[in-house]
Amino acid sequence: MSQIKNSVSSDDPGNISNHAANNIVWHSHVLDRKQRETANGHPALVIWFTGLSGSGKSTLAGALEQVLFSRGIKTYLLDGDNLRHGLCSDLGFTEIDRQENIRRVGEVSKLMVDAGLVVLTAFISPNRAERQKVRELMASGQFIEVHVDTPLAVCEARDPKGLYKKARAGELPHFTGIDAAYETPEHPDIYLDGAQSVELSIEKLLFVLKNYGILPA
Ligand code: ADX
Repeated sequence: MSQIKNSVSSDDPGNISNHAANNIVWHSHVLDRKQRETANGHPALVIWFTGLSGSGKSTLAGALEQVLFSRGIKTYLLDGDNLRHGLCSDLGFTEIDRQENIRRVGEVSKLMVDAGLVVLTAFISPNRAERQKVRELMASGQFIEVHVDTPLAVCEARDPKGLYKKARAGELPHFTGIDAAYETPEHPDIYLDGAQSVELSIEKLLFVLKNYGILPA
């Protein structure tokens, strides 16, 4: 079934949000997510890791992906640092750029979920509103927010890329936790204490993920 979107006029032709509205018709294809999920033998959804830089998001998402992959689940990992080399290489760390970063990641995740995958994402994603928008982009139960709660002092002591040091020296403006805010999730679907071992966190993730049907109960 096709659905024509209403035209929206814009004084600013560079405004990304208005481009899609003009004369674009949605085309529903015969092969849909349900069929891909059936073929894959598991539901498709997003496991969205959020937390400070150095909190362990990428490590945990990578470790979880390995376990899921080894159990035959079709996965893909989207990582903040990596996407900023390509799809998001034009974006910096101002509020507006971070919003656009997360919007793009949300849209890509949605496509990948439509392709039948379990998508793991590792982005600071510091704003509640932006995380909520991604949740709303997905169908109910398809967005699992994982808060990797590692105190700033611990992230700063780890400082794997030397970025906190630079930020403290005033060389990196808008650094999350230093001079840019991180809005803690109020009701994450999964809470992880960033101080505990990767093994314990993976155990907890696997336990909770059983409730979402991607692993046998
Ligand atoms: S987000 O805020 O837009 O979600 P994202 O996860 O894509 O951020 O990128 C964060 C990574 O970029 C950090 O792990 C760090 O390596 C690097 N980085 C560089 N500058 C900054 C900054 N000002 N604030 C936070 N992270 C930064």
